[in-house]
Amino acid sequence: PTITYHHLDGSVDEIDVVPGTSVMRGAVAGGIAGIVGECGGQAICATCHVYVRPEYLAALPPLSEDEEEMLEETAAPRDPERSRLGCQLKTGPRLEKIVVDVPAEQ
Ligand code: FES
Repeated sequence: PTITYHHLDGSVDEIDVVPGTSVMRGAVAGGIAGIVGECGGQAICATCHVYVRPEYLAALPPLSEDEEEMLEETAAPRDPERSRLGCQLKTGPRLEKIVVDVPAEQ
């Protein structure tokens, strides 16, 4: 799968990952700026907040209760449609490609 990260300064990082890699894990492992992943993917820190590009929203898993709660705590404003926790978005057969915008702060 491929994950693409768009940054506020206009730069773009695109990485290939093994299936099962989350948007958070891919960024942390790939040294991509702007995504922290402090809790290691347990949906309890909200430092992996991303804005998912609209065309990929339909392929995403539904929000869990934990994710819903953490999205109320994000440093950058929550977008009602596009905000998700990167650690909850795992690539794989259902999500071979995803494009996200990295928020201004985590
Ligand atoms: Fe902590 Fe995603 S890494 S909520």
